[in-house]
Amino acid sequence: MKKKLLFLGPPGAGKGTQATLFCKKYGLNHLSTGDLLRDEVSSGSVLGLKAAEVMNRGELVSDELVLSIVEGRLVNENDGWLLDGFPRNVNQAHSLKILLEKINQPLEAVILIKIADDYLIERLLGRGRKDDNEEVISNRLKIYREKTSPLIDLYANQGILKQIEGNADIDVVFSSIEKALGT
Ligand code: AP5
Repeated sequence: MKKKLLFLGPPGAGKGTQATLFCKKYGLNHLSTGDLLRDEVSSGSVLGLKAAEVMNRGELVSDELVLSIVEGRLVNENDGWLLDGFPRNVNQAHSLKILLEKINQPLEAVILIKIADDYLIERLLGRGRKDDNEEVISNRLKIYREKTSPLIDLYANQGILKQIEGNADIDVVFSSIEKALGT
């Protein structure tokens, strides 16, 4: 079974929901940079306060901060891992590649959860996280299109991208992911 995974998709696609279920069932380490950053914000650290300002605008926090968070958790991780929300731009993807080569744990598959904007906006407004209001959601979607979506071609060209339809019940999406990964 593939144990070094990345879930990619726009805000609200269901990456976090599916990653949580998948890691629970298959015993992988769930690395969500959004969750790790929100933990940092809750801790009230200087770093967290700086990150909160950026996150509340729906922009990306610095690559350096995110990398330092991920690096510390991937090293010594041998049971398998699932990245959720990272990498988020070409520079982060490049840094991840270098890191994974260094620890000899290449990425085995990327699941792209696809879904139309209208459904995303409805879902996110329904959730109501601090960065889930119309203005910030529209900025998050813009940044996804500009900075994150180029990763789709990047991983497709490496032959490791699998595309899943995200507009379905949670268990249906989960089954599609399992099928795509051959689990
Ligand atoms: P992050 O936490 O990664 O947010 P995001 O990518 O915007 O993703 P979401 O959590 O909104 O969506 P999701 O796809 O995980 O969907 P979910 O399962 O939650 O990032 C937040 C911020 O942190 C960024 O804006 C940035 O500032 C910063 N950040 C994070 N990583 C970074 C990085 N690498 N570099 C720089 N900055 C970074 O589902 C959403 C809702 O839909 C939930 O209510 C859920 O219950 C519901 N739902 C899920 N699936 C279904 C379904 N099938 N049917 C109906 N409802 C569903």
